[in-house]
Formats: sequence, C-alpha cells, structure tokens
Amino acid sequence: MSAGDSMVKRNYKLGVVGAGYVGLTTASAFADLGYRVICYDSDKNKIELLRRGKSHIYEPGIEELIQKNYGKTLFFSDSPAEVYSESDVIFVCVGTPSLPDGRPDLSYIEACAIEISKYLNGYKLIVEKSTVPIRTAEWIERTIKLYNPSADFDIASNPEFLREGTAIRDFFKPDRIVIGMSSERAKKILLEIYNEKDFVCPKVVTDVKTAEVIKHASNSFLALKISYINMIADFCEKVGVDVDKVAEGIGLDKRIGTAFLKAGIGWGGSCFPKDVKAFIKMGEEVQVDFSLLKVAHDINERRIAVILDKIKKALWVVKGKVIAIWGLAFKPDTDDIREAPALKIISELLKEGAKLNLYDPKAMENTKQIFPESESIRYAENLEKSVTGAHAIVIATEWGEFKSADLRKIRELMITPIIIDGRNIFEPAKVRELGYLYFPIGKP
Ligand code: NAD
Ligand code: UGA
Repeated sequence: MSAGDSMVKRNYKLGVVGAGYVGLTTASAFADLGYRVICYDSDKNKIELLRRGKSHIYEPGIEELIQKNYGKTLFFSDSPAEVYSESDVIFVCVGTPSLPDGRPDLSYIEACAIEISKYLNGYKLIVEKSTVPIRTAEWIERTIKLYNPSADFDIASNPEFLREGTAIRDFFKPDRIVIGMSSERAKKILLEIYNEKDFVCPKVVTDVKTAEVIKHASNSFLALKISYINMIADFCEKVGVDVDKVAEGIGLDKRIGTAFLKAGIGWGGSCFPKDVKAFIKMGEEVQVDFSLLKVAHDINERRIAVILDKIKKALWVVKGKVIAIWGLAFKPDTDDIREAPALKIISELLKEGAKLNLYDPKAMENTKQIFPESESIRYAENLEKSVTGAHAIVIATEWGEFKSADLRKIRELMITPIIIDGRNIFEPAKVRELGYLYFPIGKP
C-alpha cells in the first residue's frame, strides 16, 4: 500500500527506535516509500522474529510490508550503535506507560536520550513520536548535552495519531501531520520527509511544546467524546430511547461529527487511559482545573459496573454459570489487550464464581499471560466451542466475525439464549426474534 512517488528524493537515512505498534508501522511505511530505514529495538527476541519476516504484534498488513521491504530498504537491528550512528533522522517510538500515580514513565525516553548521546557522529534530527508530556523535548535535549556537550542535533516533535487495527492506512493517509520544531534545518528536513506528494493532508507546523500539547489535547478530546455518549447511553436506557439513533442525530451536525460516538463499555487500550491520566497530571502541575477530564475518566471506569449490572440482571445468579466472553482485545483488528475492558469484566466475573469460555480471533495468546487456563477459564478454539453449554454470551469487542455469527446455530448450542452486548453489534429486534434475551447498551 505504498503512497510513494518515485520522483521524490529520499535524501535521508532514517532510524526508528522501538519496534512496537508505532515504531514498526513507521519503519515499514517509510521503507515502503523508499527510505533506507533501520528499525532498532532493545528486545532482541522481537528483532530476531522480525528478521525472519514475522511480526510480534498483530496489525493488519504489517507483515506484508515487512516481508516486501526487509533487506531492501528495511533493516532490523538490536544494536544502538548501528541505528544512531547510521541514521540522519531518528524517530523515537518507545513506550511511555503510566506510573501508578498517572504520570507517564519516561525512563524509556531517557534511556534513548542517553544512548543517542553516546553514538552521535555529526548532525542528527531526533524526532519525538512517542506520546510525551509537555517539555519532554527540552529534557531530551538537556540529557543529551549533559552526557555529550559537543553533540550536534535538533529535536522535533511529530506526534503520531494512528489507530491500532488501521495503523498502516492511518500512517499513509492521516487527517493531518503535526510538526513541532525549533530550527529551520529541522523544519526543512521534516517537510521534505512529509512532502506533499507522499502525504496529501494539512501540515500543522509549529513549535515543539505546542506539538506536544496537540497530541494530549487530541486524545483527551476523543476520550471525552466517548464518555459523553456513554453518559447519554445511560440516560437513554432509563428513558426508553435508542442511543445509536441519538448519536446519529447529533453526529450529523458537522460541528459534532459522527465518529467516536459509539456507546459501549468504554475506552481501553494503551493510549486513551494513560494519556488522559497524564494530561490530568499536567493540568495539576500548573494548577489548571482539568476536572472535565477527571469526570470523563470516572464515567469510563464505571462502564464495567454498567455491564456487570446487566449480566447480573440477565442471569440472576452468576455463581456457577458458564459465560462465553466474545472479544478480549481492547478493540477489533488488534491483538492488544492493554487496558482492555474485557480483562476487567473477566476479573469481576471470576470473583462472582462464573466459569468463563474466552474467545478472541487474535488476542487469546496475550490474554493467557494474564489469565492462564484453569478450572474457571477455558480458551475456545472458535465461536461455536465458546458457546457450547453456555448460559450467556458477553460481547466485549466488536470483531467482524461476531457480527456475522450464525445466531440460530449459536442459540442451539447454548443452555440459555442470553446475550449481553457491550458493543451494540446486533439489531435488537432481529436477535430477539431468534429467541434471545438481548441486553444492549443504552437502548430501550
Ligand atoms: P509498544 O510498547 O508497542 O512498543 C514500544 C517498543 O519500544 C517495545 O518493543 C520496546 O521493547 C521498545 N523499547 C523500549 N525502550 C527502548 C529503548 N531504550 N531502545 C529501543 N527500544 C526500546 O508501544 P506503542 O504502542 O508502539 O507506543 C509507543 C509510543 O507511541 C507511546 O508513547 C504511545 O503512547 C504512542 N502512540 C501509540 C499509538 C498506538 O496506537 N499504539 C498511537 C499513537 C501514539
Ligand atoms: C487512539 C486514537 O484514536 C489515535 O488517534 C491515537 O493515535 C492513539 O489512540 C494513541 O495515541 O495511541 P487506539 O487506541 O488505537 O487509537 O484506538 P481507538 O480506535 O481510538 O479506540 C480507543 C478505545 O475507544 C477502544 O477501546 C474503543 O473500543 C473505544 N471507542 C472508540 C468507543 O468505545 N467508542 C467509539 O466511538 C470509539
């Protein structure tokens, strides 16, 4: 899916640090455009696997891009010396997970800065792609200079807005590209890389701090929007109105927009929960009232109670019941289970004494690391096996496979035909016609 134009000059050698969802996408996409890219990860096992053309993450299309470009324009390395000394532009894509108090853990970013300082050989442009708090670029700069006072470099912020599951498409066709920099040299390089032929979208060119704020303000706004519709969903349910119709009715106002108005069991993933918490902390640090975000966060936390309440209403006694959980990933088309609502639902149902049949098209291996197979937990090979002998199905992720399931057949395999749908994937009337007791979110 190359968006590349063969007339564009690929003047720079690129380095990508961190071969996760963002790094691997960035590296394979730039390599596909024709840049020479070295993708470095400190985890040797991941690099080993990638060199064999296999990806340690599931992201649609990523393995194809890797296999197409590996050894031609794309190289994988476990050597910091190699990536930092052989690249002109270094995209930092390491993780910034939450600390217990909500601030992001910047130790991976600091480790990069220290390593970079050791291997700089001539001018480098260091591009912050990881999601980081305001002033992180200043800290990176200070760290590099502390360890290597004569280092010649610039730092830019180029926040990433891709979504897991559609990462490659989002990378090549973003709504906008944000470039924050403090020198004309950095600006020239990044505008050459993000040129008009390869990337047909608006470019927001600004200073580094503004770019850092844009990323957090953007993710927090999207999370806020979902919490808003979830609040409306609870109201709709009480007053006998369909939240999806309400979402359609408000979303068609172009000022509001239809996207991110899907009510359900809340936002999970490695980004919204961590970034909202991080932004709240940033507000606190400068004494600005971010209670709007705290409420959005609290509404999201309560989504688990909302679905558990439905499960209890549907089953009466949960203890000893067999429940099929459809979907473990935090969203469809990924194997990522970080902060997935399904995990919290599983924990709560286990406390209630339920027996769980778990099924997900891609995320079962990751989930087994947290919930190993046991007397209460079974991993099903397919949808049919997950419902055989089950008293209810709980839908936690809206995978396409679930939407097209043969519900007649499924019903025959179940002990009691109950569906608690945390993602509103079915038309209530149709499911009920098939004899199911159907419990969606925010509907009469
Ligand atoms: P990830 O955990 O999937 O990948 C991070 C990788 O960095 C890991 O493979 C890890 O081994 C490697 N790493 C850690 N320290 C290293 C070091 N010093 N040197 C080399 N490699 C190192 O993370 P991710 O989901 O790709 O996210 C990365 C960053 O991008 C985060 O800040 C995240 O908030 C942001 N982001 C993520 C997404 C997304 O959809 N996942 C989208 C936009 C932005
Ligand atoms: C999100 C943003 O959409 C990306 O722009 C951003 O780059 C990324 O975070 C990041 O910074 O890491 P992602 O987490 O991959 O991307 O997934 P989303 O599609 O945004 O979904 C996040 C969560 O919100 C999921 O749990 C999803 O189920 C939930 N969601 C989303 C809803 O409940 N309703 C919606 O209408 C949309």
